[in-house]
Amino acid sequence: MIIAIDGPAAAGKGTLARRLAEHFGFAYLDTGSLYRAVGLAVLRAGKSPTDVVAATEISVDLDRRLFSDPDLRAERTGNAASAVAAIPEVRYNLLEFQRKFARTPPDDKKGAVLDGRDVGTVVCPDADLKLFVTAGPHVRARRRFLEIEGRGEAADFEEILTDVRARDERDMNRADAPLKPAEDALLLDTSELDIDAVFLRAVALVEERLKPQ
Ligand code: CDP
Repeated sequence: MIIAIDGPAAAGKGTLARRLAEHFGFAYLDTGSLYRAVGLAVLRAGKSPTDVVAATEISVDLDRRLFSDPDLRAERTGNAASAVAAIPEVRYNLLEFQRKFARTPPDDKKGAVLDGRDVGTVVCPDADLKLFVTAGPHVRARRRFLEIEGRGEAADFEEILTDVRARDERDMNRADAPLKPAEDALLLDTSELDIDAVFLRAVALVEERLKPQ
């Protein structure tokens, strides 16, 4: 079974995807971390995240050690990720890894949960269940603010809100694989739902799909 969870920055898709994977014993792939790793490597190489040649070269042979790098979750890395993610060559180079993970999940798991921006539309258009998780920009900026503070780092709400809006704008308006719900995705607005409520709703949807037809 393949579960695709897409949505904008800080909508809560990562937490939901991780909990679903754990609950059903499926493998989990945070596809955003691939784009973050490319963004981080480009910054470390002293290049601009809009440098097509540099970002493409890095995405061909991505250094896996970056996935556990402490700077992977930094806001600066998220913004760089959103810029490299607009480059079609980078998207193409990351596609096969994601599809393979979904088709043959590691450790012989019986299913995979992938979260990102284009999992239901481009990476796994045949996914068994597609969720589009969203929330208003203020709610998402507030969640990101608390997440950063929780790590003991300094956070500025207005700055985060501006970043969230800029990232939405870039992710939704790029030509290649823009952020949008797949036609057959179920929408989950988490503005007024806490993570437990979202999780329970999603578990019920997965169980429905797992029932023999
Ligand atoms: O956690 P957050 O939602 O802030 O970001 P993320 O999921 O780690 O993704 C970082 C950036 O990668 C996004 O802003 C997207 O531009 C890009 N991305 C993408 O284009 N396609 C995906 N499937 C996943 C992420």
